[in-house]
Amino acid sequence: MTRLAKFVAGVALVVTAFALPALADDKDVIDYRQDVMKALDGQTAALGMIVSTQVPDDNLLQHAEAIALIAKTALKSFEAKVPGGEAKPEVWANWADFEKRMKDFVARTDKMAKDAKTGGVNVVMEQMVDALSCKGCHDVYRLKK
Ligand code: HEC
Repeated sequence: MTRLAKFVAGVALVVTAFALPALADDKDVIDYRQDVMKALDGQTAALGMIVSTQVPDDNLLQHAEAIALIAKTALKSFEAKVPGGEAKPEVWANWADFEKRMKDFVARTDKMAKDAKTGGVNVVMEQMVDALSCKGCHDVYRLKK
C-alpha cells in the first residue's frame, strides 16, 4: 500500500470505530428511557418512606433533589420517536401535550426540592401530590400491563 492508501484506510477505520457506537438502536433508546423512569421510581419510593416516617428524614433533600435532577433528563429520553416498551404511540402523536406534562413535572419537582431546603418534610408533603405527576402521565401515555 502507498502511504496515502494507508492513511485513507486508517482514517476510515477510526471513523467507523467511533461512528458505530454512536448510532443507538431502538432497543438502546427504549432501555435508556426506561432506566430514567426506574431511577425516578427508586427515588420516589425512598422519598415516600421518609414522608411516611418509615425511615429517618436525614436524606430528604437529597432524594427531592435527585428526583428534580432525573426529571430534567426524562424529556430528552423520549425525543427519539421509537414506539415500543410500554410507551403508547400517543407520546409522539400528541407530543406537544406530552412535552408540556414533562416540563410541568420538571418545574414542580424543581420547586419542591428548592422549597424543601427551608420547609423540610412539611413542604414535601404539601407539594408531592402535584409535583409527582407520575400516574397522571402514565394513565394517558403508558400501556397497562
Ligand atoms: C410526562 C409523562 C411521564 C411522567 C411525568 C412520568 N412518567 Fe414514568 N413513564 C412514562 C412512559 C411513557 C413510560 C413507558 C416507557 C417505555 O416503556 O418506553 C413510563 C414508564 C415508567 C416506568 C416503567 C419503566 C420500565 O422499566 O419499563 C416506571 C417505573 C415509571 N415510569 C415511573 C415513574 C415515576 C415514579 C414518575 C414520577 C416521579 C414518572 N414515571 C413520571 C411517562 C411518564
